[in-house]
Amino acid sequence: MERLGCKKVAEFVIERIKKETLLFKDKVNRSPGLAVILVGNNPASLSYVSSKAREAENCGFMHFQYNLSEDIVEEKLIELINTLNSDNRVDGILVQLPLPNHIRESIVINAITPAKDVDGFTSFNMGRLVLGEPSLVPCTPLGILEILDYFNISTSSKDVAVIGRSNIVGKPIANLLIQKGRDATVTIFNSRTKNLKEKIKDKDIIIVATGFPNTIDSSSIKDGAVIIDVGINRIEDKSREKGYRIIGDVNYESFKDRDVKITPVPGGVGLMTVASLMSNTLKAAKMREGIE
Ligand code: GUN
Repeated sequence: MERLGCKKVAEFVIERIKKETLLFKDKVNRSPGLAVILVGNNPASLSYVSSKAREAENCGFMHFQYNLSEDIVEEKLIELINTLNSDNRVDGILVQLPLPNHIRESIVINAITPAKDVDGFTSFNMGRLVLGEPSLVPCTPLGILEILDYFNISTSSKDVAVIGRSNIVGKPIANLLIQKGRDATVTIFNSRTKNLKEKIKDKDIIIVATGFPNTIDSSSIKDGAVIIDVGINRIEDKSREKGYRIIGDVNYESFKDRDVKITPVPGGVGLMTVASLMSNTLKAAKMREGIE
């Protein structure tokens, strides 16, 4: 097994962003600005949001953090988004998901002006992505493309399995990989798929984004395959200080003696998601300044 550790990939992307940010500042006399909105205090969301804040500062961005109470009404949240939409210091607006049940996710997301939609989740940017038009691309799929490029893994004429059909990962990565230039043949699987294991046996690249540990193991994967594990699952582990540890959607151990390449969890795709957010923020800033 070859471990596709992504620390160096993320560092490579961040170094590129830092250099470009210096040029950006020289040109327009301000820093790119990222606004992050968190509703409630879901522990996983809190941890993601703080790593986004840390990385924004590390990249030399301005960073605006809004922690809203769990019971905030939808109108108030949209009011804040509208204020940020017209705040010239802000290039990117991110609303951390999931939102509480009383708030309609799609209404809130689509309140973000597409030019500042650094998650690429608005209908506008998702539509452009599907059409193959330039757009802000969702962070995790963008991170997966960076990983494939960094390790020189071509998708041209490859058979790719995308397991999971979420708006955040499955749908966008499948659409990116079928585009001209990436040229993959993609099949999207979901939790109702019959005989999943049988159907992925001949796939060259398997992207697993189900949110369930042990979704695949080595019994259903061919030699030479590349596996991208998108899962971030907290499982109880009393031996750890925090009381839990993070595992992916793939049974990593089962691949130990197999001829496959695989992204680990932690240390894999998760690191790229934050780096991609920085990349999208800089891109949005450049677009707003007419540089790109
Ligand atoms: N929750 C889980 N992943 C994501 C993401 O990529 N963006 C946002 N905003 N929320 C998330």
